[in-house]
Amino acid sequence: MADAKEIPCALVVMGVSGSGKSTIAEKLAERLGWVFEDGDRFHPASNVAKMSAGQPLTDEDRWPWLQAIADEIDRVCKAGERAVIACSALKQAYRDVLVHGRRDVRIVFLSGTQALIADRLARRKGHFMPPGLLDSQFRTLEPPEKSEHPVTVSIDASVETIVEDIARQLKLCRPDRGARRGKHA
Ligand SMILES: Nc1ncnc2c1ncn2[C@@H]1O[C@H](COP(=O)(O)OP(=O)(O)OP(=O)(O)O)[C@@H](O)[C@H]1O
Ligand SMILES: [Mg+2]
Repeated sequence: MADAKEIPCALVVMGVSGSGKSTIAEKLAERLGWVFEDGDRFHPASNVAKMSAGQPLTDEDRWPWLQAIADEIDRVCKAGERAVIACSALKQAYRDVLVHGRRDVRIVFLSGTQALIADRLARRKGHFMPPGLLDSQFRTLEPPEKSEHPVTVSIDASVETIVEDIARQLKLCRPDRGARRGKHA
């Protein structure tokens, strides 16, 4: 288990549409006992209106949205809370706004092939995905650099395995987990 000082106050779970951000961030938050936030909730009304009208957002539209998430991260950390935030954060410049030099904010990158993600999107219920959107997401994606100290996980696994992989890489595994498993076996 990481030293309390080394435990991040916020994790940003990033990746292209359909990589599993909402699914993984929610389960990870549950597993850690942290708050789950979906980054989409921080869009200003003007962005929501644009997206509802099917218009693509520009970077100019994105800065206030990313800044609102960064402000929430500061609030959470200052309050001594901890949060897992799902946010596509495809470009390094977007992540720079979110992390803004904080060492206690970590990027978790959900890495997978376009074929696997296209397959998951095709099965996803209740979401309309315009054709070509995944192509454009992969064109825009700048996988995090080493200098960003990301936690990278392969999404070609079960949700539980992915969540455990992230917790293990961040040294947030419960020391008594094996023992508890044993008790119930
Ligand atoms: N590890 C997994 N194994 C199988 N299915 C998965 C896994 N992770 C996510 N899924 C499924 O893939 C689909 C996409 O996941 P999810 O909606 O969480 O992605 P997202 O990155 O939040 O997408 P968006 O950017 O569009 O919000 C969902 O139907 C989800 O149930
Ligand atoms: Mg989502």
